[in-house]
Amino acid sequence: MRLIIMDNAEKVSEWAAKYVVKRIKHFNPGPDRYFVLGLPTGGTPLGMYKYLIKYHKAGDISFKYVKTFNMDEYVGIPRDHVESYHYYMMTNFFTHVDIDPNNAHILDGNAVDLQAECMHYEQLIEKAGGIHLFIGGIGPDGHIAFNEPGSSLVSKTRVKTLARETLEANARFFDNDIDKVPKRALTVGVGTVMKAETVMILITGSHKAFALHKAIEEGVNHMWTVSAFQQHPKTIILCDEDATLELK
Ligand code: F6R
Repeated sequence: MRLIIMDNAEKVSEWAAKYVVKRIKHFNPGPDRYFVLGLPTGGTPLGMYKYLIKYHKAGDISFKYVKTFNMDEYVGIPRDHVESYHYYMMTNFFTHVDIDPNNAHILDGNAVDLQAECMHYEQLIEKAGGIHLFIGGIGPDGHIAFNEPGSSLVSKTRVKTLARETLEANARFFDNDIDKVPKRALTVGVGTVMKAETVMILITGSHKAFALHKAIEEGVNHMWTVSAFQQHPKTIILCDEDATLELK
């Protein structure tokens, strides 16, 4: 595992974006050879997406031969809802780069058969040849995607009922009304992310410091699902100084 500590969140974003560019270029993708990226939403990766758009606009990187798979999506809110992860990805990334929308995959939280949608997503990842680089973020409780404390560390893409704490934390995005927060989400599993060739986890802010300590300084524990990546052959934890405050 590589632990990379940058001065601040801005530097984390820049490093992450440069690493993505480097990996795509090194792979040298083409019509018969797509680079496959796993992507997160949330506040943490916003800066990385801004840098990627900047590098794309400067002509440094093309996403023409890149396929993406997002980590998760809420169940039961329209795609154009401002809090849907479809909306997030379209507004913060996809519409600003040259990715083919058919290659930008996001779980469909409005599918009639949610179970089938999850199985289909796993198949799509497999059909794409697996994920070369999965980028993730974590919550203060160590969750990755919607794999909340107690999730199986070999889990696959599935429907998850969200914990009360998550609903409370997310209420701020839904008019501070917990009843408006979707109660379920579709999420890749810890096992899905574990299968990626490289996993890069972005962690910024002192509120994530205890989670970082649990992630890397204690044993693998399903109550801190991010700790599973101690057992991944190629994990990069990219964090800022504030996130290291609880490290020994
Ligand atoms: C993102 C995701 C989550 C977030 C995590 C941190 O698709 O599934 O794991 O990365 O909740 O969110 P932020 O970055 O907003 O602190």
